[in-house]
Amino acid sequence: MEKLVIAGGVPLRGEVNISGSKNATLPLMAASILAAGKSVLRSVPELRDVLTMGSLLKKMGAGFSLRDSVCEMDTSGLNEFTAPYELVKTMRASVLVLGPLVARYGQARVSLPGGCAIGARPINLHLMGLERMGAEIELAEGYVKARAKRLNGASIYFDVPTVTGTENLMMAAALAKGTTVLENCAREPEVVDLADALIRMGARIEGAGGSLIEIEGVDELRPYGHDVIPDRIEAATFAIASAITGGDILIKTSRPDFMDAIMIKLRETRVDAVKTPGGLRVKANGNSGRPASVNITTMPYPGFPTDVQAQFMALMCVANGTSIINETVFENRFMHVPELQRMGAQIVLQGGMASVTGVEKLKGAQVMATDLRASASLVLAALAAEGESEIHRLYHLDRGYERMEEKLRRLGAQIRRVPEQRG
Ligand code: EPU
Repeated sequence: MEKLVIAGGVPLRGEVNISGSKNATLPLMAASILAAGKSVLRSVPELRDVLTMGSLLKKMGAGFSLRDSVCEMDTSGLNEFTAPYELVKTMRASVLVLGPLVARYGQARVSLPGGCAIGARPINLHLMGLERMGAEIELAEGYVKARAKRLNGASIYFDVPTVTGTENLMMAAALAKGTTVLENCAREPEVVDLADALIRMGARIEGAGGSLIEIEGVDELRPYGHDVIPDRIEAATFAIASAITGGDILIKTSRPDFMDAIMIKLRETRVDAVKTPGGLRVKANGNSGRPASVNITTMPYPGFPTDVQAQFMALMCVANGTSIINETVFENRFMHVPELQRMGAQIVLQGGMASVTGVEKLKGAQVMATDLRASASLVLAALAAEGESEIHRLYHLDRGYERMEEKLRRLGAQIRRVPEQRG
């Protein structure tokens, strides 16, 4: 086990390259199941979650390699249709193989993901959709067993927009017989990226990025070659790193347009956040000025992302005034609050709402990461804090941020990764 040791108080300056998106990569990897042969994905981040999805593909008999950000998946020998508990429990996104397996092989056995640090996170909408497409679904011994001779097109309405639910059913519908209409879909850029790859595979999909997606099923798909979109959550995390340290960072991302809500909110804090030809430049308003407090409400895209809520809260911990942070996507995504409080943050929690009163300075402390984005918020708080902080349980951070400490160090951060002492 390793921990991060951060000496705070250094304004970060320079340029940072943004990696490929984790949440686009995972469904794209699952989509390789839909066709026999070798699919190639470029700009893939080397992350624990990506390796977990790779292990899952290998366990099912597929080939998988990841080198220099290029991921190759060869599904010619795929002959196992199970996603076992050991893998699903470490990564819920494993459930993304369910739709492709049933669509292509007529069967799948996928462990139910169970609860999660940020909420109950059921997959009832994924299952409802597959059932509507004619799959027989059985829940037994902690597993979902799904069977179908061939899926049929159907009209499906999501009670809440679900990102992986939309992706799972879009993949399943691509090989179904007839037309599927998905309503109240998630509109995230990662859904659009998946649709683009599926279309390249020969799928007929219209409307991805809107709330109604229509898919006309085809009999066969071919493997794809595709470049993953940049990670908008990583880019947002570095934008906040600049704001919280009084820094000036050029965030090199080819798709700043994915980040409008975040940029608008950062500007409201009086940070100078502008699009540039190479990406985004985020510059704090001088060394003395604290950011202004602003309220945020998390929403499905294009709203303010829940995946940036914890990081934005870290910024609000040092803002001038009180801000209200309303988390509407997940019911329990405030696990970072007690840890931020250990660093001197003034936060009052009431249900899905946090009231954060900014303090002049956070203080370095030993803190523990509880989930991926919570970990990122603690790193940000530590970068801004007076004195030294230690962040434990780094494996959460490694699930979703590629070489984060290396990137931060290049921007001037005093950050080290060291082995944990065994107690
Ligand atoms: N929901 C249901 N039933 C379902 C599916 C979802 O009630 O069948 C609810 C969830 O409980 C939640 C809401 O719908 O309240 C939205 O959840 P969604 O299904 O969209 O989340 P997800 O697809 O499981 C993805 C990302 C998450 C991100 C959320 C929301 C991937 C692999 N994961 O999860 O990313 O927080 O969308 O944007 O794409 C992260 O990267 O740190 C992360 C957690």
